[in-house]
Amino acid sequence: MKLPDNITFLGTDDDELDLFEGQYPLSAGISYNSYLINCDKIAIIDAVDRRKSEVWLNMLQGELKGRKPDYLIIQHMEPDHSGSLRELLILYPDVKIVCSVPAKAMLIDYFEDLDFTNKVLTVKDGEALSLGRTSLRFLTAPMVHWPEVMLTVDETDGVLFSADAFGSFAMSGAEIESAWPTEARRYYTNIVGRFGTSVQALMKKLQGLKFSVIAPLHGPVLTDDLPRYWGLYDKWSRYEPESDGVFVAYASVYGGTAHAAEMIAAELRRRGASDVVLMDLCRHDVSYAVAEAFRLSCMVACSVTYDAGLFPAMLNFLHHLQAKKLKNRKVALVENGSWAPIAAKQMAAEFEKMEGMTVVPEILTIKSRLHKSDFPAIESLVDSLLSD
Ligand SMILES: Cc1cc2nc3c(=O)[nH]c(=O)nc-3n(C[C@H](O)[C@H](O)[C@H](O)COP(=O)(O)O)c2cc1C
Ligand SMILES: [Fe+2]
Ligand SMILES: [Fe+2]
Repeated sequence: MKLPDNITFLGTDDDELDLFEGQYPLSAGISYNSYLINCDKIAIIDAVDRRKSEVWLNMLQGELKGRKPDYLIIQHMEPDHSGSLRELLILYPDVKIVCSVPAKAMLIDYFEDLDFTNKVLTVKDGEALSLGRTSLRFLTAPMVHWPEVMLTVDETDGVLFSADAFGSFAMSGAEIESAWPTEARRYYTNIVGRFGTSVQALMKKLQGLKFSVIAPLHGPVLTDDLPRYWGLYDKWSRYEPESDGVFVAYASVYGGTAHAAEMIAAELRRRGASDVVLMDLCRHDVSYAVAEAFRLSCMVACSVTYDAGLFPAMLNFLHHLQAKKLKNRKVALVENGSWAPIAAKQMAAEFEKMEGMTVVPEILTIKSRLHKSDFPAIESLVDSLLSD
């Protein structure tokens, strides 16, 4: 890991966690990153999840070799980062906590029994803290991902400590190509996705600052190709698709709707669409579907009618897209029902709740199974989707 000499990586890897934030399955674990800055003054950037406090403190003590840290910089109070605070304070009761004003309030809520009198130094946006040879400049980043978040720039060594921004569902030693963009996109869209406007505001603030390393709180540290990651973050936070392509997402019980979705995907490919992704919403975690919906410019939503409503997997997917505020996509609808198909109308109502979603008027309604007579409707749906 190419960090400047005076910065030590103190991150911990977790390959045993089943669900991150109680809902996101991990394909290859995740890391909770922490950093030690060794100057005349010693600062720790963020703690780690309580699941890893012992490993983290052992690493920290090994690095400190009997010295004591002066500051703990809390960039983010969420327990995947500040969960080990109590354990740190037991070992180093004199460490000064540096955080934003809203983080201080959370600190007291999370650790009601601890006495923080004269222990907390709150900093404002743009304020700096000298460590001697270098100084740390703090940039508040409200709602990237929580209101108390701030980022930190090591001004001498050009390192941006980016909190949850530029993180990934990956362990710290993951090959960049396995973490970026796939797992970073899934992380961004599901965890930060809702806060695109806040991310844009942060990116504006960061422009003009000099850094050659991005050190996030999850996944690998980024040292090369920073414009690539920056470009992706810019796109994601503007809700712009990365690719002109179609995400065909379906929810089916007996396979009829799945078959229609396959036929539509085949027709799209036959007509030259290069980036077509077909996904069974019942068999993939919704976080993967959200990531594809962000990545591609068009979507075909295919659902069974179920108890006079939408199949749960489709409803869940659409609710997630609403929560993540996806906007400006072109959408086609496919419904299935054996007696009174109503899924398309209900999906249209869900897309209405989102900004800038264009639902094409050609709706494919299937009665139980796809019939030969449905093929012209598939063709006109595809026509409409592929037209400008
Ligand atoms: C529990 C259950 C509830 C259903 N409710 C409705 C309904 O309200 N209206 C309707 O037209 N069809 C309803 N159906 C029928 C399905 O929509 C229909 O069988 C459809 O063709 C299934 O598509 P699939 O082959 O993709 O699973 C229901 C089916 C099940 C299993
Ligand atoms: Fe977070
Ligand atoms: Fe986090």
